Amino acid sequence: MAKHPLLKEVQDNILLEKYSKEFGTPLYIYYGYQIKENLQKINSALQSYFDQYQIYYAVKSNSNPNLLSFMHNYLPSMGADCSSPGELFAANKAGIPMESCVYTGNYESKKDLQSAYDSGCEINLDDSTSFQRLKKIGVPNYISFRLNPGIGKGRFSQIITGGKEAKFGIPKEKIIPIYESAKKDGVKLFGLQCHSGSAILDEDYFVKNTQLILNTARRIENKIEQNLSKISIGSGFGIPYSDDEDALDLNNVFCKISQVFEDFYGRDKSDWPILCIEPGRSIIGNTCILLAKVTGIKESYKNFIGLDAGMETFMRPALYSAEHRIYKLGTKHKIVDLPVDITGRICENTDRLAVNISFPRVVEGDLIAIMDAGAYGYAMSNQYNTRPRSAEILVNGDEYHLIRSRETIEDIFQNCSI
Ligand SMILES: Cc1ncc(COP(=O)(O)O)c(C=O)c1O
Repeated sequence: MAKHPLLKEVQDNILLEKYSKEFGTPLYIYYGYQIKENLQKINSALQSYFDQYQIYYAVKSNSNPNLLSFMHNYLPSMGADCSSPGELFAANKAGIPMESCVYTGNYESKKDLQSAYDSGCEINLDDSTSFQRLKKIGVPNYISFRLNPGIGKGRFSQIITGGKEAKFGIPKEKIIPIYESAKKDGVKLFGLQCHSGSAILDEDYFVKNTQLILNTARRIENKIEQNLSKISIGSGFGIPYSDDEDALDLNNVFCKISQVFEDFYGRDKSDWPILCIEPGRSIIGNTCILLAKVTGIKESYKNFIGLDAGMETFMRPALYSAEHRIYKLGTKHKIVDLPVDITGRICENTDRLAVNISFPRVVEGDLIAIMDAGAYGYAMSNQYNTRPRSAEILVNGDEYHLIRSRETIEDIFQNCSI
């Protein structure tokens, strides 16, 4: 049972009020100290058990170039996992060298593959047909393919990315001939990647997933008579979204993963392939508070608190029924009141940030903090109902600054003509 690491920011509400006055609401507020702590934890856990490893931050979870550059300045060895030309652009803008990046797409167009190839990053392909399309552009020296290991796991069914229902990766039964033909076509070095789900807090799943990946890696190595240079176990490292959940012990996770590597490759770590991971949520998820304001309160068949942030601002609750800790500013102890739904101003009945939660009494204008909004928060926000997207700020020590201005209605229509 652990309190949220940013709870003190909510309890000491003077600064949050100041930010709301200066930048307006809804506002995504990121805390630099928490980003550094998350990077430090994951890097030192890897360092304890692996001689050769590479962290590729998953840009899809949050692509703000200022945050990417903050991360990269703190941990210069950090690369980026990009899934679109736009994410490559963000990584490049942040100063992350393209040689430290990997492109993991799916159903990529020729244009997508051309961008990835031209950027000089590594390419991780989702299918044999992707390789056929890439070949027409060029054959890279190094390539990896994404494995579907036949199983998957995730906090919600929608974020399971392995197994029979998953649209991602190559089934383990079909993957070997793809390596054989890529070798014939001139690829010199190979890796194997697998990301079979997200928001996982079960240590043992990572062990099982790694065993399945290394089983397939061994079969590939035997067949192509060549060692794989890199193994990416993807990500899926979960974070607690409630006080009842414990954080993953990354030291335990990487200790157990290293034992699987030892079983397959022996005790001499210099014989091991480079371990790669692509964390998104575990780096940026818990570093951000989404600050919103109460705009209306309604007693209907249910009780509603309406905010100036809705499903367009923060989609996870409407998309997955994801539950986030939500606090009224300055509330030290949760005052249990009538159950309420917290909603936004969007004309959709799925527009909810919380359903049937006990919440303190609020009045119009009160500030509300939505926790753990850093990953898949702003990145998934949109302009539905023609609502401009939020602003983002980064707090670093005593300093804070705007890292993305609030969109205007004019911005929304800037590409339209009549
Ligand atoms: C290929 C790939 N790698 C990494 C990630 C990041 O996962 P997480 O946010 O669980 O760290 C994702 C998320 O969907 C992904 O698809």
